[in-house]
Amino acid sequence: MADAASNAVEIRGLHVRRGKTEVFTDLHLDIPRGQITGLMGPSGCGKTTLMRSIVGVQKVAGGTVAVLGDPAGTGIQRRRVAYDTQAASVYGDLTIRQNLRYFARVIGAPASDVDRVIEQVGLADQAKQRIDSLSGGQESRVSLAVAMLGTPELLVLDEPTVGLDPLLRAELWDIFRGLSDAGATIIVSSHVMDEALRCDRIVLMRAGRIIADTTPAGLLADTGETDPDEAFLSLVKRDAATDRHPRTRRQAREEASE
Ligand SMILES: Nc1ncnc2c1ncn2[C@@H]1O[C@H](COP(=O)(O)OP(=O)(O)OP(=O)(O)O)[C@@H](O)[C@H]1O
Ligand SMILES: [Mg+2]
Repeated sequence: MADAASNAVEIRGLHVRRGKTEVFTDLHLDIPRGQITGLMGPSGCGKTTLMRSIVGVQKVAGGTVAVLGDPAGTGIQRRRVAYDTQAASVYGDLTIRQNLRYFARVIGAPASDVDRVIEQVGLADQAKQRIDSLSGGQESRVSLAVAMLGTPELLVLDEPTVGLDPLLRAELWDIFRGLSDAGATIIVSSHVMDEALRCDRIVLMRAGRIIADTTPAGLLADTGETDPDEAFLSLVKRDAATDRHPRTRRQAREEASE
């Protein structure tokens, strides 16, 4: 059994069914504290479902998910764990500052956090602007700011950089690194493989299974590639080659050619 003190998340035998889809049948994963773990994998592989399971909003059919030493979703985690969902979850008719004040009250974060997080995501000049007047990149930074309220120990960020330009993505990764240096654990999903190289650890998923749990250096060394996209494709193909089921093999080929 892994050391509870060193792991932010411990998943054992997780089984999740969503509608008619068996998303996970027997998933095991440890995520260490204080690191940035990247959750990578093709669309539909289960990244969001895994994140939902970790923050305790996913109905699970079996297995256990322990987060910061307690079962996922327990009340005490409300302030210790933050979740930035894939879809924006802020109020369009409120300003940035009004949204943050509201969410700070909801989670019981100090009022002084509001301006701090607005500053941290670089939106001080827009603080009085309504959400529905912001650009897409600005809006996604607002949801990141919401996640940063209350200085959570664990931040679960579902594709926080999607649709952002490279400059903004780099700035957000600097923020993640800063949060991590300050002691936070970060789990971040992405489709962009060069972002994987900015993580401390990489968890690669395919079709509801973890096909690699590694580091950026490990990913490249294991595949003999220098390009992270190629490394990823190589692992997906290697995994697909071991599939006995023709349907999953076809699916894998399609994923690999995406
Ligand atoms: N409500 C639902 N009913 C049925 N199937 C679902 C439901 N929600 C998700 N699924 C299925 O579960 C699987 C995992 O979905 P999930 O959203 O976790 O993938 P993902 O890796 O986050 O994908 P993306 O990169 O597109 O966000 C997919 O096959 C999806 O179609
Ligand atoms: Mg998703």
